[in-house]
Amino acid sequence: MRWSSKAVSLICAAGLVVFGVVVATPAQAAGPLKTVAAPRGKFIGTALATDSLANEAMYRTVAAREFNQTTPENAMKWDATEPQDNQFSFAGGDQIVSFAQQNGMTVHGHTLVWHSQTPGYVQGMNATNMRAEMQAHIAAVVGHWANNPTVTGWDVVNEIFNEDGTFRQSFWFNTLGQSFVADAFRAARAADPDAKLCINDFNVEDINAKSTAMFNLVSSLRSQGVPIDCVGFQAHLAIQFAFPSTLQQNIQRFANLGVHVRISELDVRMLNPETAAKDATQAQYYTNVVNACLAVTNCDGITIWGFTDLHSWIPGTFSDQCCGLIYNNSYSPKPAYDAVANAFGPGPTDTTPPSTPGTPTASNVTATSATLNWTASTDNVGVTGYDILRSTGGGAFSQVGTSTTNSFTNTGLTASTTYQFEVRARDAAGNMSAVSSPVTVTTSAGGGDTQAPTAPSGLAASGTTQTGTSLAWTASTDNVGVTGYDILQAQGASGGTFTQVGTSTTTSFAVTGLTANTTYRFQVRARDAAGNVSAVSNTAQITTQGGGTTGACSATPTVQTQWGTGYVINPLTITNTSTSTIPSWTVTFTLPAGHTLSGSWNATVTVSGQTVTAKSVSFNGNLAPGASTGTFGFQVNRPNGNTQMPTSYSCATP
Ligand code: XIL
Repeated sequence: MRWSSKAVSLICAAGLVVFGVVVATPAQAAGPLKTVAAPRGKFIGTALATDSLANEAMYRTVAAREFNQTTPENAMKWDATEPQDNQFSFAGGDQIVSFAQQNGMTVHGHTLVWHSQTPGYVQGMNATNMRAEMQAHIAAVVGHWANNPTVTGWDVVNEIFNEDGTFRQSFWFNTLGQSFVADAFRAARAADPDAKLCINDFNVEDINAKSTAMFNLVSSLRSQGVPIDCVGFQAHLAIQFAFPSTLQQNIQRFANLGVHVRISELDVRMLNPETAAKDATQAQYYTNVVNACLAVTNCDGITIWGFTDLHSWIPGTFSDQCCGLIYNNSYSPKPAYDAVANAFGPGPTDTTPPSTPGTPTASNVTATSATLNWTASTDNVGVTGYDILRSTGGGAFSQVGTSTTNSFTNTGLTASTTYQFEVRARDAAGNMSAVSSPVTVTTSAGGGDTQAPTAPSGLAASGTTQTGTSLAWTASTDNVGVTGYDILQAQGASGGTFTQVGTSTTTSFAVTGLTANTTYRFQVRARDAAGNVSAVSNTAQITTQGGGTTGACSATPTVQTQWGTGYVINPLTITNTSTSTIPSWTVTFTLPAGHTLSGSWNATVTVSGQTVTAKSVSFNGNLAPGASTGTFGFQVNRPNGNTQMPTSYSCATP
């Protein structure tokens, strides 16, 4: 059966992957959303916009973490994919499809035939030309992603009804009559026999004149054998209007026809300003939508029309309204987020404890403190932290602290005393590991000194390579003498936690084991003989160099489509042909005389004369030995009649 095929298995696969990252504990706000939706057999998606995806790390992070489905907000519409007749541009759509592919999401194509966001050259055609144009557009756009399993379906026609159930007097209808609908579906099925083909509209959530017209049309098209598989209820709701109380019955009547239903563009707007009370009502609307979909097997899932109020079509379309989404402008979840999570949840309960941490080792043992380090535990849902247990002189162990890293410094110890330390790990579901073996520590004799050294200053990094850097600083001073320095490291240009990565008895330290192309921050602090610790130094920041020079790669072009005056190479497959991981790649090739590059995607491209140089971008550079990426491609214009193709492809690292 068609519906048990690729869409469903991809959703299940995504569910398993996310289960490995975070768990939902029962009876509290669960998340990420895909973790709680997938076990219920529903997708949870978001519309994605290409510019936010390219420019905002937070946008990418939240989208990748929460959703297992996406619908491109604008990138696959006619004005984006065929802005001029026969000039196709798939870069934006490809960008979203690559992101989806990398993050276990499916993509629903949106939208092929619509009265809006369609260029004038289409609108002015006579009936014969318009029908041929529509069929050619569908063939090209659906065909572009037909062999990509990430793209599972399409909105074939969008918003074809008036509120009273008559056909919208669009240029499509006015020129072609209602026959354009069946023709569009047939063209889409011919271009991708596996894709789920939908009709999509707004204000069809309730049983009303408009949804009944849609119901009658779907029923009649199916009885004529027109390939229509699904119905999208946009669900652009607003709290100043009553919730569509017959939503569940409406989904059910379409399901009874044998078609699938998706909530395709959900948002719940409100009149300005946003208030806590309105947010609570909004949350209830979200709950109701999830519950209605959960109640009907043939409701496949829910796509929210964006996720952060920072990027939403609402303020631009309804000038007195706002705030229809589940995250606020600063990416904090709103009550609506919890509403969705709780309506799907609780997720699966994890009972597997983390592995036992390694036996701690003790360092920097002074009269009053000791630092412990241990080998981290592993866990199926993720270790969230460690408990540190201590026994004095062979007595019972009790907990003296917690750590979210695999290191801990215990202070306030008594001089000349023997202690034992053990650690145990906890996971996100609250499971606890067995305790580690103990380490025995005897503090040194106390000297009575309590004055800390001065903070080290002038910390600077030099000689940064791909995997290391050299730190040097100005010495601290101390009344009883500085005995050494702790070296602290955090990843990233901000945030993260500084953890100790080594000690030094001089004013320099060589850091090793860093990752290529990564930003780190370092600090140092001084210790004296009595165990007093200084404040930390200034922070030194570095970014390690990109990539090794040992790897090798190959570049293999695929001609996706060509016409008289141009062609598309997609993908230009890059394969790591070496036995070590490559962090990045650079491909060069030569365009024949007279050919000019008119577009490219998923690489940073420079052109010099006829030589094109394409460098990998953040997400497609790192390739394991033997691995390939098929994300990069480009489009070229050429003189009419010239059939040459680019030559001299070569690939190098980094
Ligand atoms: C909207 C987008 O969100 C906007 O960015 C764009 O400017 C206009 O279109 N119904 C649909 C969607 O089917 O394609 C619309 O998306 C919202 C209404």
